[in-house]
Amino acid sequence: MTRVFSGIQPTGEQHLGNFLGATRNWAKMQHETDAFFCVVDLHAITIRHDDRAAVRDGSVRLAQMLMAVGLDPEVCTLFVQSHVREHAELSWIMQCNVSYGELSRMTQFKDKSDQHDFISAGLFTYPALQAADILLYDTDEVPVGDDQRQHIEITRDIAERFNYHYGETFVLPEAVIPAAGARVMDLQQPTSKMSKSLDSPKGTVGLLDEPKQIEKKIKSAVTDNDGTVRFEVAEKPGISNLLSILGAATDRDPASLADEYEQYGPLKTDTAAAVIELLEPVQARYRELEADPAETARLLKLGADKAREIANSTMERVRTNVGLLTD
Ligand code: TRP
Repeated sequence: MTRVFSGIQPTGEQHLGNFLGATRNWAKMQHETDAFFCVVDLHAITIRHDDRAAVRDGSVRLAQMLMAVGLDPEVCTLFVQSHVREHAELSWIMQCNVSYGELSRMTQFKDKSDQHDFISAGLFTYPALQAADILLYDTDEVPVGDDQRQHIEITRDIAERFNYHYGETFVLPEAVIPAAGARVMDLQQPTSKMSKSLDSPKGTVGLLDEPKQIEKKIKSAVTDNDGTVRFEVAEKPGISNLLSILGAATDRDPASLADEYEQYGPLKTDTAAAVIELLEPVQARYRELEADPAETARLLKLGADKAREIANSTMERVRTNVGLLTD
């Protein structure tokens, strides 16, 4: 069976873009593949922070949200990165097999290092940890957004180099990137992806937003003055985004939905209603999970135990092949 691995950072709240663009597909994938999903808390601390509780709570909240959107810990392997120590161990070995030059070319590093005063070495070697995440599990496919393409490429390069120098050790993973149409854009800046880092609260629908808030945000989405409803992403980004969201929420094709609307108002009303209906069961399930932290802890331990078993056997191979003294 195809082994799938993806990671998600426990920073910021999950929003509609994460759900429609990624995690909803993960919930489907878990039934068709051998799927591993990881809350990457070690990646989250590459940016210095001074609130321990926020990091910890962020991991718990994200894990609960992933379960609420449908990841079933009995079906897939859902775990927290720092619970499986092998990630940190392999990350070091990956750092010793990637060059300074390669890491310097990473666009995510360039973007993030521009935004912070303290640039940690961990932020620079972030791709080595990501490579470790992926390679530990003999991953075939990595479902990620387009922005992660470079990180999967570097993972393949490291794996190939390692296999060449130290003998066949790692499976070479492939990125699986969803079609551009599945992208949800910011409601206020519809040419930018809906994103936790955009800092656009009015343009981002949080998965835990109240129905009233959702309605308000969608009704005040930026459109244009042309007055016709057409699905044309370049020319009409705002309207096309609403059609994409409505299409994704109702399983319809956005272009054919456009034919059913003549005015922006009804399109907004229907989109808001569809999103509220889509999120209602997610929110209800999240509230249940939130009320039972011991159950979340139990499920995450189950996930870490399953992950550790595979990570352990990969590490034995790696230690032997790279020449560490094993007992
Ligand atoms: N870097 C990814 C992001 O920012 C998160 C991530 C960490 C990841 N490890 C991973 C994604 C392994 C896929 C596979 O979105």
